[in-house]
Amino acid sequence: TTETVSEELTAAIRTIVDYPKPGILFRDITTLLGNARAFRRAVDALVQPWAGSKVDQVAGIEARGFILGGAVAHQLSSGFVPIRKKGKLPHDTVRIAYSLEYGIDEMEMHKDAIRPGDKVILVDDLIATGGTAEAATKLLQQMGAEVVSACFIVDLPDLGGRARLEALGVPVRTLVDFP
Ligand code: PRP
Ligand code: ADE
Repeated sequence: TTETVSEELTAAIRTIVDYPKPGILFRDITTLLGNARAFRRAVDALVQPWAGSKVDQVAGIEARGFILGGAVAHQLSSGFVPIRKKGKLPHDTVRIAYSLEYGIDEMEMHKDAIRPGDKVILVDDLIATGGTAEAATKLLQQMGAEVVSACFIVDLPDLGGRARLEALGVPVRTLVDFP
């Protein structure tokens, strides 16, 4: 067929109404992850601009960014840096508070996870308000990383997340829009 990657990925994502709160249309990527072809196509599309270039670290945001970020890091032969909800990392951390579409939270990264000048790609499943990815970008930049891209399967463009990352000088790549 002539179905595009974007259409294939869109069809592989499930929508849950009123989760985790009334009024939220939750874009559930577990159905995409469980579809072997869609999972591979998503990871291939995320890494495609970076094939053959040197990326030092892929930073993944807990929890869904770990699944994709691990696959992206492996494919680019780079390291992986977990950015976690507070209290989960065992060594010295940098911490930042952030707000998201349905609440507030704090995230942390190990202080020694990044070397100044490291080229880093930030990965998560979805960008909504951009609060989560903006906070992660600030942690990475604070430790001297050059965040060369932030990439996501899903963009909720009406929530304006892309502009918040671009304001930090980070190019954004997304594969699917849910307007
Ligand atoms: C979701 C999603 C992103 C974030 C996007 O994670 O995986 O990390 O929300 O929202 P934002 O752009 O408005 O900040 P969630 O906070 O639900 O955590 P989880 O992956 O641990 O479930
Ligand atoms: N994270 C923030 N908003 C979301 C949404 N609508 N669906 C899935 N994850 C999200």
